Amino acid sequence: MKFLGKPSSRRAAFLPLCLLFSKILHPGHSHLDSSRYAGDKVIRLIPNTEEEAYALKKIYQQLKVDLWQPSSISQVSEGTVTDVHIPHNGSRALLAFLQETNIQYKILMEDLQKVLEKGSSLPTQRSRRSISGYNYEVYHSLEEIQNWMHHLNKTHSGLIHMFSIGKSYEGRSLFVLKLGRRSRAYKRAVWIDCGIHAREWIGPAFCQWFVKEALLTYRSDPTMRKMLNHLYFYIMPVFNVDGYHFSWTNDRFWRKTRSRNSRFRCRGVDANRNWRVKWCDEGASMHPCDDTYCGPFPESEPEVKAVATFLRKHKKHIRAYLSFHAYAQMLLYPYSYKYATIPNFSCVESAAYKAVNALQSVYGVQYRYGPASSTLYVSSGSSMDWAYKNGIPYTFAFELRDTGHFGFLLPEMLIKPTCTETMLAVKNITMHLLKKCP
Ligand SMILES: *[C@@H]1O[C@H](CO)[C@@H](O)[C@H](O)[C@H]1NC(C)=O
Ligand SMILES: *[C@@H]1O[C@H](CO)[C@@H](O)[C@H](O)[C@H]1NC(C)=O
Ligand SMILES: *[C@@H]1O[C@H](CO)[C@@H](O)[C@H](O)[C@H]1NC(C)=O
Ligand SMILES: *[C@@H]1O[C@H](CO)[C@@H](O)[C@H](O)[C@H]1NC(C)=O
Ligand SMILES: [Zn+2]
Repeated sequence: MKFLGKPSSRRAAFLPLCLLFSKILHPGHSHLDSSRYAGDKVIRLIPNTEEEAYALKKIYQQLKVDLWQPSSISQVSEGTVTDVHIPHNGSRALLAFLQETNIQYKILMEDLQKVLEKGSSLPTQRSRRSISGYNYEVYHSLEEIQNWMHHLNKTHSGLIHMFSIGKSYEGRSLFVLKLGRRSRAYKRAVWIDCGIHAREWIGPAFCQWFVKEALLTYRSDPTMRKMLNHLYFYIMPVFNVDGYHFSWTNDRFWRKTRSRNSRFRCRGVDANRNWRVKWCDEGASMHPCDDTYCGPFPESEPEVKAVATFLRKHKKHIRAYLSFHAYAQMLLYPYSYKYATIPNFSCVESAAYKAVNALQSVYGVQYRYGPASSTLYVSSGSSMDWAYKNGIPYTFAFELRDTGHFGFLLPEMLIKPTCTETMLAVKNITMHLLKKCP
């Protein structure tokens, strides 16, 4: 078998990564070196009336808070939990306001800088590789992830083919891995992308985990073997490469792409509001400084255009589109842009139901599931709705752990449990696809 070279070389096949990565001096981590977020807080607020929601929207705007959940001020409403990151110089004003108005709140993080430093050990202390070659239980910089992809492309050419679908705004390659046993026969495919939103680091970590599990268990696990024999997986570990890089080097909480605007100083577009499906309507912003900015026109972002072009070209054989986000612990399906039921609701719904049950069976972690509009919030121009509208019958968005305790700063210690349980959900959905839905 071509798969890993010699039969006994499973471990060895991963070993050269040691050499590869010992040469790289701990990149990134400038967010740890500075004390940029010292004294910043993350606060959970729950407006109980319309008036309170209105007052919160106003003060969020005034204090320029960084909204963690939901992602846009327009989605702040009565009875909805909102998590906000408030810079140190604004937190006193916000707390005074909350006491005055009696709005219900809870401080999730007293000092964001401390949480950041605790979550990932300092570069000098952390081992970026493990004995078996590559450490999948730390977050990796873009450069590391791309080196890892190149490496697998060389060492696992029987199951992996790496290619580029274009260039990002800042000129970085948009790499995709095609995973699956090569076959002349017609094969259906599953598209998986991670890291549309830069700060959701658990996404790319999951994409890497998925590939690792596929390679390690292809021979021993009949389910995985079936998956890779019958399907191709197109995996894009980092969709928003510029934003992800920026979240390592400049701003840990960056969400958007990094494109420039001709009239405003603010940069970036929300790559999950830039798709041609009810573009720039509810749940998206027309203002370039907002985190949910839809962009000047649909597919204005080269990253979105590249993926849309690829999906259009291959939609005949792509059966499923899976997109990985954080955080909320939800498994979402269309529609995102309206409250309505999709035509093949029962097949998609039963796939989601089984997947969250499979996920929960590992550590008891509960996921909510349902149409994105009613389960999370309404948002137009999303990749999931676009993929569905373009004929891909199963489209899902995962919102991975957690529900706000660490938020975007999910500690590296939780990469393994999060990915292990998510893996079961993804395998479950995939096996569902291989059967005919009644
Ligand atoms: C906090 O500091 C930032 C930059 O130092 C400034 O832009 C912002 O206006 C300040 N906010 C308040 C509420 O003082
Ligand atoms: C992956 O490997 C193949 C050869 O096996 C090569 O043709 C291709 O260019 C490589 N992909 C990238 C992105 O380097
Ligand atoms: C999918 O999960 C359900 C439980 O929700 C389980 O009964 C079923 O066996 C799983 N299927 C596969 C193929 O893993
Ligand atoms: C719904 O399912 C039927 C039968 O499986 C299929 O022919 C049809 O294309 C599906 N429609 C959508 C919108 O996925
Ligand atoms: Zn996201």
